[in-house]
Amino acid sequence: MDDLVSLCKRRGFIFQSGEIYGGMQGMYDYGPLGVELKNNLKQAWWNAMVYENDNIEGLDAAILTNPTILKYSGHEDTFTDPMVDCKSCNQRFRLDQVPEHCKKEDLTEPRQFNLMFKTNVGPIEDGSSFGYLRPETAQSIFTNFKNVVDSSSKSLPFGIAQIGKAFRNEITPRNFIFRVREFEQMELEFFVEPGSDEDWHKKWVQKRLDWWEDQGIPMKSIELYDVPNDELAHYSKGTVDVMYKFPHGLEELEGIANRTDFDLGSHTKNQNELNISANVVENKSSNTRLAIQNIETKEWVVPYVIEPSAGVDRGVLAIMNEAYNVETLGEGKERTVLKLMPHLSPVKAAVIPLKKNNEELVKIASDLKSRLQKLNLGRIILENTGNIGKGYRRHDEIGTPLCITIDFDSIEENTATLRDRDTMNQERMEIDKIPEYLIKVVNGL
Ligand code: GAP
Repeated sequence: MDDLVSLCKRRGFIFQSGEIYGGMQGMYDYGPLGVELKNNLKQAWWNAMVYENDNIEGLDAAILTNPTILKYSGHEDTFTDPMVDCKSCNQRFRLDQVPEHCKKEDLTEPRQFNLMFKTNVGPIEDGSSFGYLRPETAQSIFTNFKNVVDSSSKSLPFGIAQIGKAFRNEITPRNFIFRVREFEQMELEFFVEPGSDEDWHKKWVQKRLDWWEDQGIPMKSIELYDVPNDELAHYSKGTVDVMYKFPHGLEELEGIANRTDFDLGSHTKNQNELNISANVVENKSSNTRLAIQNIETKEWVVPYVIEPSAGVDRGVLAIMNEAYNVETLGEGKERTVLKLMPHLSPVKAAVIPLKKNNEELVKIASDLKSRLQKLNLGRIILENTGNIGKGYRRHDEIGTPLCITIDFDSIEENTATLRDRDTMNQERMEIDKIPEYLIKVVNGL
């Protein structure tokens, strides 16, 4: 973990938030390369969820949330962690995370602590008008259920996908970006006919494992945890956690839950007229029926929901951890190389003129950079430092799959040297063939 944290800071992936004032616990900022990696990961998820499935639609809803939503979702009452204070070190811990140095006799009785952040909405600060920063993106998917169904004519099974920030006032944020107070989630709510839910749950577990593998997480680093009944969230009938071997231990990367008809059943109007199976509180506030009509029987059905919910930040950490390699090169030399899947790499290619101030070389390099940039594969960099060795080392360390060197033969022959990040093999290629080649590299073809 220390090596990763240090690489992240040195190369501009992730910084402690507000570091110049001593930082703020549980908050991190993504730097120039981190934002590229994170965006690429989110795009890969969006492609796999929304673009590759005609029955899944996207959503980008507000973060500030009406408290009524979080009342009926159960978060106001149940989104809590038991917390204890240590009278010896004067610190507060989650009951299951008390460090060994705190003695049992120094701990207070556990108290429930709600993890949601509250903030004033509007000009009056007396607490009469407030909102929550959403603790999960899921709730706005449920409250927009009818809007999406009506505007996109969906029938079961279908899904709504959303990527966005979530906030939790974690008592003990720790392990770098693993447990933070502000993070991003990639959530799919997949609505199915009651009765088909268990089959869909299994299908989604497998689909999500396949996806993580495509992002460079080998299955040997993953374990599935079938959450026992007494540990299930209040909305869940069954949850499978995808556990990853993080540098600090085996922990949750994604949870895939069968939320039954709990959420739509909690937020719908006319609950008594619908055959809701989950145990929901009476809702007198909703003005919308959150159900779908069976075309044949004309019966209104409250769908069950399968929810794969992944953390973007935990994904970034797992992917960087897998990609991070220190290789021995002989003669006492070594290199650090980030073997990211090319579609996730922050920089797709670096074009490096052999000599910094040579007009002809720089012109060919900068023309090629512009040409490659227009392919829309992601960031292409013109590395005009004049130091090829340094350029290779830097791009190995940040995971650039391809370095393209423009030398004096490029002027005569219209060719360049391509260096592969992983094998370090070099080959000569016609400049006109490089765009097509790069498309293949980035798309893993
Ligand atoms: N909507 C369901 C839900 O929010 P969750 O298991 O609480 O379920 C889903 O969260 C995912 O969000 C987790 O698997 C994890 O990847 C990420 N996550 C949750 N809390 C987090 C935190 N404090 N810091 C970073 N990621 C977090």
